Formats: sequence, structure tokens, C-alpha cells
Amino acid sequence: MSDELFDLQIGYVKFSNPIALAPMAGVTNSEFANNYAKNAGLAVIGGYNLDGDTNIAAKALVENGRDEFITDTPLEFLENEAKAINIGSAVAFNVRSTTLEPLLKAAEIIKNAGGILELDAHCRQDEMVSIGVGEALMKDMPRLADWISKIKETGVVLSVKVRANVVDDIALARTIENAGADILHLDAMMEGAGADLGAILRVRDSTRMFLIGNNSILDFNDAKEMFSKGADMVSVSRGVLQDAHLIDHLVEEVTLLQEQMGWYNSPKHVCRGEGDLRGLAFCCLPVKPCAVHNKAGQLGYSPKEFANVKMEFAKGTPLEFGDSTCFGSLVWCCKISKPCYLRDGVLDLLDLSAADYMKLKKDLATYILDNAKKPVNES
Ligand SMILES: Cc1cc2nc3c(=O)[nH]c(=O)nc-3n(C[C@H](O)[C@H](O)[C@H](O)COP(=O)(O)O)c2cc1C
Ligand code: SF4
Ligand code: SF4
Repeated sequence: MSDELFDLQIGYVKFSNPIALAPMAGVTNSEFANNYAKNAGLAVIGGYNLDGDTNIAAKALVENGRDEFITDTPLEFLENEAKAINIGSAVAFNVRSTTLEPLLKAAEIIKNAGGILELDAHCRQDEMVSIGVGEALMKDMPRLADWISKIKETGVVLSVKVRANVVDDIALARTIENAGADILHLDAMMEGAGADLGAILRVRDSTRMFLIGNNSILDFNDAKEMFSKGADMVSVSRGVLQDAHLIDHLVEEVTLLQEQMGWYNSPKHVCRGEGDLRGLAFCCLPVKPCAVHNKAGQLGYSPKEFANVKMEFAKGTPLEFGDSTCFGSLVWCCKISKPCYLRDGVLDLLDLSAADYMKLKKDLATYILDNAKKPVNES
């Protein structure tokens, strides 16, 4: 597979595809990733306990039957893990600490290894939360923001792992983005209900950060649903324990989809509230009362401004053409998965493939968001 197919890069880290291994403490170490995540675009390993207090908490968790990585020399342990991992893809190290200092030291090690530091603001075990780690960080946003900005000063690429439906998801995403993090790794868990896809969509519409969606992905249909709500990447953990080839299978399927469709995480149409803001790329000329007005309004566009921004983008591109379509130009046309002989006739005439049409729609969605009167990450 060519590295260029997905065009996914953050700072010094390049992802060959949008499938990730998600961390499981005591399980997902370098050896696990070498065995089960060789083909993933990203392997998130850990969580590693970086100080004395988190290692003491981890020992208590082990006594209660959970798996944990425990060590008296956390930074050496981390460094050895960075050396032992041997996969073609990017690596992130999920870490916990009660104080900032060990995180800054870990950031230097991880940056030198070309990896990503992932701050665990997700763990909900009492032993960790009671010492201010994991979920406690989500509930203390000023401290979380302060730590993010200080970790970012090291130059490391930074991911923050959180869980949905614990605090205000939108405020949380914006705090993390505005503090300078590069990646939001969102476990979309809803207590007793599996993945909350609405949480992915809500967060997608409140941040421009690279978004990794997570929870209950067991096959490609689950992954596709999460992609269509705006996840840039999806991650799997328990699924890999059930099916050792899950990651390979997901990578194969998403590669095929990207080759055929050109936009593996294209949104749904916004008509019934299913599509995120990127879905405006598929909207009609705003001439009738429908969801487009509210959705474009979220970005501060009046109907006229919205029409203008789409036409501005179309100028000089193949989307300008299409006299025979509903609104006189492909820029107003639907997603390729919606059958339409009028649009397809124009694509044939222009010799534009379905994948190239969708790539233009993707660029159009970015243009609409880039030129918003009210950026998504501002409340
Ligand atoms: C045994 C186990 C250990 C976990 N340890 C961590 C951890 O150390 N850090 C973290 O951020 N998430 C941890 N998680 C959460 C997973 O990364 C993931 O968010 C969650 O399991 C939902 O994804 P899944 O449905 O693909 O398993 C753990 C999950 C399990 C099952
Ligand atoms: S403009 Fe068209 S695609 Fe967009 S919400 Fe309205 S009917 Fe749906
Ligand atoms: S011509 Fe077809 S694709 Fe274009 S807007 Fe009309 S129905 Fe949608």
C-alpha cells in the first residue's frame, strides 16, 4: 500500500492508514504491538505508570485482579519499550503520572524516538482517580490545559485520551485543542450502551483536532459508522483480543474503500441530523427550508454567504460544471453513494472518477470550515 493513499500526517508523525491499536494496561506492550498491530497506522501502547504513586496504585489494581505494567524505573522501562517496538507504523505511548515532571521527561524520550505522547485522562479506576490521575484530569480542565501546554513546549506530538459522557464533551474538546494538543483520542463509551456515535459527531463539530474514535469496534461496519461521524482514525482494543487479525482486516477494508471512494471518512448528508459540518459539501443551493440553514449557521454563514463560499471554491475546478444537474453545478451535488444518473452523466463527460469527485468534495468541506465566520472550536 502506498503511504500517500491516505495523506495522514501530524508534525513529524506519518500514518500509513487510519486504523489504530488502543491501549490496555498490562496487555498492550511492545511485544503485543509487534504481534498484532504490525499493519496498523498507529499502535498506542501502555498505559505506562511514570512515577512512584501511579506504580503503587497499579500494584493495588493488580492485587484486585487487573493487569498493569509495574516498574521501579519507569523512564528506563519506557525507553526500552520504545527500542523494542518494531512495526512499520507510528507509535504512541499512553502514560499516567501524578505530577508533570515525569511527563516532561517522557516527552523528550518519546520525541527522540519519533513517537507520540498520549496523556491518559481516561482511566476510571478508583486507585488512579483518587491520586489525581486519569479521569481526574478531565474533571480538572485548568490543570489539564496547563499540563498540555507545558508538555507541548517539549515539541512532542501530543494526544489526549478521554472518555465521552463524563464531563461536557464540547467544552473538554475545545479546552484540549486550545491548550495545544494535536490529537483527541475519544472513547465514545456510553454506560451500558456501547459506542455513542452522537458523541463523535458532537465532538467533530466542536474541534478541528485530529480525532481518533474508539469503542466497541468489532468489524468494518462499526468502523465505517464511526468514520462517517467524523473520526479521522478509529482504534480497537478488546476486539483484538477476540480476533487476532482484526487490525489487518480493518486495514484491508479501509484501503479498498479509500481507493474506490477517495474519502474514507466522508460524512453523511446533513438532512436528518446524521452528517457533521463537513456534510455541507453535499448540500444543495440553500433555497428551501431544511437543515442546511441551521448547519451553515453554526459556522456563522448566512444562506447567501454559504452559497458564495461554495461557488468561490468551485471556480476553476471540475465542480464548476454540471448544467444538467439540479442546481446547475456539481458543487451542489450529492454524495457519490446516492445514486444519480444526472450527476454521473456529468462525471462521465468530464472523465472524473468517483474517487476524484469525492476528493474535491473533501477539499470543499475543508474550505467551508477554514473560511467559517465562526470557527468550530470557539464557543
Ligand atoms: C483491560 C483494559 C485496559 C485498559 N487500559 C487503558 C489504559 O491504560 N489507558 C487508556 O487510555 N485506556 C485503557 N483502556 C481503554 C481502551 O483503550 C479503550 O478505550 C476501551 O477498551 C474501549 O475500546 P474497545 O471497545 O475497542 O475495547 C483499557 C481497556 C481495557 C479493556
Ligand atoms: S440543502 Fe439539500 S442536502 Fe442539505 S440539508 Fe437541505 S435537502 Fe439536505
Ligand atoms: S443532480 Fe443528482 S446528485 Fe446532483 S443535486 Fe440533483 S439529485 Fe443530487
